[in-house]
Amino acid sequence: MIIALLGDVHSNFPALEAVVKEIEKISPDAVYFLGDAVGYGPWPEETLDLLKKVVTEGVLGNHDAGVVGKTDISDYYDAVRYVINWTTDTITNDQYEFLDKLKYIHVENDENFLLSHGSPRMPERYDYIFGEKSVKNLYEVESFLKNINFIGHSHYMNLFVMTGQNRCVEIDISSGELEIDYEKPVICVCGSVGQPRDGDSRAGFVTYDTVKKILKFHRVEYDVEKTVKKIIDLRLPRSFGERLRDGY
Ligand SMILES: [Fe+2]
Repeated sequence: MIIALLGDVHSNFPALEAVVKEIEKISPDAVYFLGDAVGYGPWPEETLDLLKKVVTEGVLGNHDAGVVGKTDISDYYDAVRYVINWTTDTITNDQYEFLDKLKYIHVENDENFLLSHGSPRMPERYDYIFGEKSVKNLYEVESFLKNINFIGHSHYMNLFVMTGQNRCVEIDISSGELEIDYEKPVICVCGSVGQPRDGDSRAGFVTYDTVKKILKFHRVEYDVEKTVKKIIDLRLPRSFGERLRDGY
């Protein structure tokens, strides 16, 4: 079975369209969504409609949870809160319902993987997986983890292997593709479709062959300026567009 995993779209519809086009060429058996369909970006309706069409299963991101009133956003900074509230006012009931039905975590026991937006330790808290310290915290829930655990939220692409005795190592994924053959859980941080923050402006997503155990990190070009312009035209916070140019 080949699966595709995408997340942190953040209402960046041109980026999502480019990723979906690439995924269609790969023709996976299922497409999994890692949360944050909305927030920051200018096309929540188009983004949600396309996700509804292509996604097999998904989880609720913190921006999504803010839109449907399932997380406290009072400590988010003003510009972020503004776009979350604007999104709630903009989307249709059907689109709201799509977000509202998403769970915090999704487990596929047969294929031995799970999805969570932030750390799967307490998924409703949306803790970030940024580095080795945050991965080590996962030893507390090791028995719950699967062979491979797909995460979003940080907008980076990383791969960590839990090596036992409260240790973990980060694996170099610069080659884009590698075989997953480890006894202990692997934490795959899948990057962002619509707001990458690793200095690469291209949209990111991941594919995984559950039989051959081959994990692949993908990057796709899209029309960044189209999104920057739309954000300015709608008078949404400019920085959410301008930062897309450098991928920060
Ligand atoms: Fe996000």
